[in-house]
Amino acid sequence: MSLPGYDIELENVSFAYNDEDVVKNITLSIPQHSVTALVGPSGSGKNTIARLIARFWDPREGRITIGGKDLRGVDPETLMRNMSFVFQGVVLFNDTVANNIRIGKHGAGDDEIITAAKLARCDGFIAEMLEGYNTLIGENGSILSGGERQRISIARALLKNAPVVLLDEATASLDPENETLIQEAISALVKGRTVIVIAHRLRTALGADKIAVLDHGCLVEEGSGEELLTRDGLFARLYRIQQESLGWSVGK
Ligand SMILES: Nc1ncnc2c1ncn2[C@@H]1O[C@H](COP(=O)(O)OP(=O)(O)OP(=O)(O)O)[C@@H](O)[C@H]1O
Ligand SMILES: [Mg+2]
Repeated sequence: MSLPGYDIELENVSFAYNDEDVVKNITLSIPQHSVTALVGPSGSGKNTIARLIARFWDPREGRITIGGKDLRGVDPETLMRNMSFVFQGVVLFNDTVANNIRIGKHGAGDDEIITAAKLARCDGFIAEMLEGYNTLIGENGSILSGGERQRISIARALLKNAPVVLLDEATASLDPENETLIQEAISALVKGRTVIVIAHRLRTALGADKIAVLDHGCLVEEGSGEELLTRDGLFARLYRIQQESLGWSVGK
């Protein structure tokens, strides 16, 4: 079964893990082939919305559609085939680098793996490893930095080539080189896909086609970065605070 399209719509969606709603009556359009950033303070519901889109849970009220179809009517296997996840705390296996990337597509040839690794900016650190692509990376990738692990996860998603990507940006502060490499890897991944990015760095969110700002489970603002900065609401305030704290840490 294939999907008729990749526009994702949340229609009056509410959700609670326990008694209290943590997603409150959200209506949001996520247009296909574009990047939508979810931003907001800690606990505002960003990950919960991503999990609802991936159908880890169903809404308590309202519905979510993809290509006009209610997620509840989409065969789970089809849904998973059409989505890639680049989340924090990527699970890596005690196997070679190549096999860790191959998880994106079972039976992928070495050439495909190398292409994905290059696009995801992994080839530099892999080339420095003693046995290159055949290097064992240890339990949960202990020999790799956080940025390198995230790039492996992007290489997997590139190999999988799913039209919808859910991406949870790393919260850990990265050195500028790692940050640039990750941004390049993400740019390769988002090309032509429908992307939902949980953006912790609001500078990243500014590059999205659309930003949805959440606060305590409510959608409080949406628009382009420029629109939201002009509106001078929550996004503009959070952005200023983050820029100031970045300024201080650079100045120290
Ligand atoms: N598995 C869970 N069981 C119960 N409550 C949860 C669970 N996961 C999240 N919550 C609660 O739901 C609310 C929204 O959490 P969510 O993880 O979606 O926020 P977030 O915006 O991703 O936050 P952060 O920026 O800190 O990652 C929070 O109050 C959180 O404590
Ligand atoms: Mg979160």
